[in-house]
Amino acid sequence: MTVPRSEYLSNVWADGIFAGRVLFITGGAGSIGSAQTRALVHLGANACIVGRSVEKTEAAAREIAKVRDGARVLGLGGVDVRNFEALKAAADRCVAELGAIDFVIAGAAGNFVAPISGLSPNAFKTVLEIDTLGTFHTLKATLPHLLASAARNRNPSPSGLTGGRFLAVSVTFHYTGMPLQAHVSAAKAAVDALTATAALEYGPMGLTANCLAPGAIAGTEGMARLASRLVTDGTKGEADAATATAGRTVPSGRWGTVRDIADATVFLFSDAGNYINGTTIVVDGAGWRRPGEN
Ligand code: HXC
Repeated sequence: MTVPRSEYLSNVWADGIFAGRVLFITGGAGSIGSAQTRALVHLGANACIVGRSVEKTEAAAREIAKVRDGARVLGLGGVDVRNFEALKAAADRCVAELGAIDFVIAGAAGNFVAPISGLSPNAFKTVLEIDTLGTFHTLKATLPHLLASAARNRNPSPSGLTGGRFLAVSVTFHYTGMPLQAHVSAAKAAVDALTATAALEYGPMGLTANCLAPGAIAGTEGMARLASRLVTDGTKGEADAATATAGRTVPSGRWGTVRDIADATVFLFSDAGNYINGTTIVVDGAGWRRPGEN
């Protein structure tokens, strides 16, 4: 079944704003990543999705390509972000088949809910390897292509065409500390630092590098993992009730949606985001300001 536009994109964006642009995304078959990809493809981009599962990645690519006639969406499975050579090969294949890499989203992440006492050294290391090292690998593998895009699309006018955009998906946990999320908090703090440094090193060449930090987003795997700790007997009905109740404690009064994240991504990659660099856009309804209640 085709996903209606209203689920992944507001109606404020003009069709075709990303025509001729190519997105490279890790984690693009996940709930947030596929909404971001749908939105950008809907607005004219072609895309290359990389992921660990061949079946899931190829199915997502086929599904996302349906959002626009003529869209080209390449699904490259069997790529683990912990493996730099595999990512580099995927980036090169994207350029060979789609002609460029203008936008990158480092969206692949690993998570589970555990206290520090329940984290083995390997468990902690695994999340750092997926989130931190994986983001570094993604940046490093795509950087030459991003810089080429930035050089091609550089325009003396302040609203020049976009290209050379790097976006890492982060969290807000490390702003306050977050029980049961020491591994993710540590990993994503490093992702923020890495991304800010990329902005400083490559901003002069036209690259922008930012993070996007979603709050609790309904219908995602991260949310399902969070919900599983809110209930004791694990029944779906209780999980739904628990998450609905908790959503009301977000200052904006609801959980986030994948469309909230896709819209913010479109903004950052559009001409309107040209001067946003080296920062984190938090899209969480002010939830992180009430960490104890979410
Ligand atoms: C404690 C755990 C654990 C758990 C795994 N480990 N699950 N420790 N509590 N619940 C430990 C294992 O025992 C092992 O350590 C180590 O972690 C590695 O586990 P593997 O299963 O061998 O790793 P791997 O197959 O590479 O899988 C990685 C994974 C897995 C992170 C554990 O969950 C995964 O692939 N996740 C990808 C999808 C995902 O997580 N999406 C959600 C992202 S949401 P030992 O010592 O036994 O060898 C997100 C945003 C935050 O990131 C959302 C808010 C909640």
